[in-house]
Formats: sequence, C-alpha cells, structure tokens
Amino acid sequence: MAELTPSQLLELVHGTQVAAGTPRVRELTRRIVTDLFRTIEDCNVKPDEFWAVVQWLTRLGASGQVALVTAGLGFDRLLDIREDEADRAAGRSDGTPRAVEGPLYVAGAPLSKGEARLDDGSFEGAVLVMEGRVLDTGGEPVAGAIVDLWHANEHGLYSHFDPDQKPYNLRRRIETDAQGRYRFRSFLPPGYAVPPNSPTSELFDALGRHGNRPAHIHFMITGRGMRTLTTQVNIPGDTFLDDDFAFATRDGLIVELEQGASAEGYKSLDVRAPFTRVRFDFVLQKAANEREAAAGSRYAGTTATAD
Ligand SMILES: [Fe+2]
Repeated sequence: MAELTPSQLLELVHGTQVAAGTPRVRELTRRIVTDLFRTIEDCNVKPDEFWAVVQWLTRLGASGQVALVTAGLGFDRLLDIREDEADRAAGRSDGTPRAVEGPLYVAGAPLSKGEARLDDGSFEGAVLVMEGRVLDTGGEPVAGAIVDLWHANEHGLYSHFDPDQKPYNLRRRIETDAQGRYRFRSFLPPGYAVPPNSPTSELFDALGRHGNRPAHIHFMITGRGMRTLTTQVNIPGDTFLDDDFAFATRDGLIVELEQGASAEGYKSLDVRAPFTRVRFDFVLQKAANEREAAAGSRYAGTTATAD
C-alpha cells in the first residue's frame, strides 16, 4: 500500500466508493471519525494517550456505566433540549416538562390501583406521601393512567442494580382512579453520587468535577391516547439542586414539602403520625401517534437493549 497522509487515510477509512452498508451509520461514523482524526492532529495526541483511552473505554463498557458518562457529559439533557425545541416549533410546549430517564429504569414493577407503598419499612426515614392527579392539558383527569416510579434507597442505590435490595424495591406502578388520582408512601430519598473508584469517577476526577446528583424521584407516566411522559421531581433544599451531575434539574419539577401533614385519611398507607406531604399533578399531552403513547424506556426504540 502506498504511503498515506492523514487525509488520504481518512478517505480510505470512509470508503467513499462503497455503496453497501447502512447510509445513516456511514454518515455518522464518517463525521465522528473525521472529528477524532482532527482531535488527534490538533491536540497532538500521543500513542500512549490514545491507548489509555481505549483501555478506559473497554473498562467502562465492562462496568455497565456507559450511560452514566453520557449523562455526566450532558448528552441525556441535550437530547431532551432538542426534543423541547422540536415541541416548541410544533406548538406543543404545554404539560409537565420532561426530564432525563437515567440508566436505572426497570420495567415490570408491581402494579396497584390508586395508591402504593414503595418501601418495606426496613429504613425508618422521614415518611413521605406524594399525591396528585394525572391530567390532560385541558385539565381533565386521565383515568387509568399508569404512574411508574422509582427512586434510590437510603444509600443512594437502586434495586435491580444493587444486589442487596429485593426485586423492585422502591419501584411501583400505580393506576390512577376515575379522578386521575394517584398517591404513594415512601421515604424522602437522598441524593447520590456515581460509584467511587470506577471508570466513571476516574473521568470526572480527571475533569475536576463531582459526580453528585440531587435527591429526586423518577417517573414514567402513560395513559390511553396520551404522550408518554418521562420526568423526575427534585426534593428542595439539596446542595446539588442547581449543580446536578446530569444537568437534569428543571423549573417546574422542584416540589414543595408540606411538613407535619395530618395522618387522617392515610390509614391505608399505614401512616399513623404527622408526615411530609408532596402534592403534584402531572399534565400529559395528547399523543400524536401510537409511538408517542407507547410505554417503555428510552431503549425501547433501539434494536439493541440494555439489560
Ligand atoms: Fe436517579
């Protein structure tokens, strides 16, 4: 093979004469590889630096933390910002704001009607009851909506990914009643951080960044004919509320805590003393098509699925 300049090599890599393959994959690969060639040249990347990155990527993939890094580098929020922009252009900006799903959703949580208790009582944290309605943008209740929610335990860890927790601990699906109401009991979750001594923390340590997320609760809400809403609410007062590792905090999603709420009317949730209450209504848009109304995580539309 002839001697090559970097640009000649790049053209060979792109194989501009090749007609086969997937056009979209070829287009994106071309762009990304071109940008990386340029980075290596502009930043004078040495072989030891390049192979250190390859080793890190290999360890990152094996650790299952790729989707933590995407969140920390802003990609998850970027995709939401772009969806918001598309919605605004289409005149569809009403309803509860979306927020990033994160990498820790698990489908198939236990389903109950109207209300649920998420915790098993083994952790005696501040009792939280969150309640409200699922509405459409006209203010009408969405009966039979499914409020699928999940949050971290007192150590900042999620069931399924944390082997010390029972299956579906702190994960439930609640079907709204005829008035669109839901309510659940749990405890106020803490914030959490990316795993220490991990490929993810290695990167963010090197960037001089912390890996903390403020306290939050995740939701994925579906309703017949409604656009699926994936969002999260933040607990106020958290140190990292405006300094979230994942850039996910949004106006309109920071709840108010009502301290010392009366236990009257909450017996079915085994609440017997004053507790912390959060009232929050979720507002869903009408779905424009079946795909928008389909339940499922962000991986549902991909050909490869995460485990
Ligand atoms: Fe989370």
